[in-house]
Amino acid sequence: MAGWHELPKAELHLHLEGSVTQETMRLLAPDLSEDEIRARYSFGNFAGFLECFGWVVKRIRTPEDYALITRQLLADLERQNVRYAEITLSAGVVLWKKQEFGPIYDAVQRAARSSPVEVQWNVDAIRHFGVEHVMQVAELAAERVGDGVVSFGIGGDEARGPAEWFTDVYRFAHEKGLRLTAHAGEAAGPESVWRALELGAERIGHGIRSVEDSALLKHLRDRDIPLEISITSNVATGVVASLAEHPVRRIYDAGVPIVLNTDDPGIFGTTLEREYEIAATAFGFSDAELQQIAGNGFRYAFRIDRGRGDLRNVH
Ligand code: ADE
Ligand code: ZN
Repeated sequence: MAGWHELPKAELHLHLEGSVTQETMRLLAPDLSEDEIRARYSFGNFAGFLECFGWVVKRIRTPEDYALITRQLLADLERQNVRYAEITLSAGVVLWKKQEFGPIYDAVQRAARSSPVEVQWNVDAIRHFGVEHVMQVAELAAERVGDGVVSFGIGGDEARGPAEWFTDVYRFAHEKGLRLTAHAGEAAGPESVWRALELGAERIGHGIRSVEDSALLKHLRDRDIPLEISITSNVATGVVASLAEHPVRRIYDAGVPIVLNTDDPGIFGTTLEREYEIAATAFGFSDAELQQIAGNGFRYAFRIDRGRGDLRNVH
């Protein structure tokens, strides 16, 4: 396929805050120089990335700022023929900044409704801030089920916020009708993915280190649990040593369902079209395989009408 534009695509793992490009940051923080922003956007490892993410989110200050970045992201998705997006909004960060979540959610939801891209929100918490924080976020998400919020997840540092802390939170979220996802097996090993599955996660954010555990690969394949793969992200954060070592091909060949995503496109300088291009050129995915993977973006969506939600039974 000449380009990946024509293919109707979906994004299932995409952080609103991480969509802020260096150019957009200049609009949010006009006092900063281009050089300073460039320096803040460069990092060499996962801890450095989390620091960069924290720096970016602190500069998204008002509901209007959130609306601006939502409009910019959606215009970008529309240009790429992305028809459907589950966008992660970090309510955890909003609480950390001591801001009110309601006006921010209303602003992003209003911006989303005026885009032709269909949007559902995944509300996520910062796992290394602990159980109480994560429960507060789940409560904010639960209040908005049926009003654009479809799922709940956890991001941040897996090592400092292990999944087993959050059993009660995930049970609560499930009972409130939220679909469940979790970052796992990104910076930590396959045991972190097993723990996320025990929580009831129906999709795994990244999950690339599942490749180290053949029983886990088989489990994901047999239970039809997809990994939300973001190749450029994993190289940029250093959780894989190089592009050539990314396990996407091995995971796919093991029969595990995958979707391709950008994670934090503004920070990593990527697009969804580019992720498809990399899959084709660096990993030899054929047009037919990429069409099937693009279809997975819709197949594994959490939205009620086409997702598998009503068929699944967790806990
Ligand atoms: N928050 C934003 N992007 C993330 C990632 N890739 N891993 C963990 N937390 C994140
Ligand atoms: Zn992520």
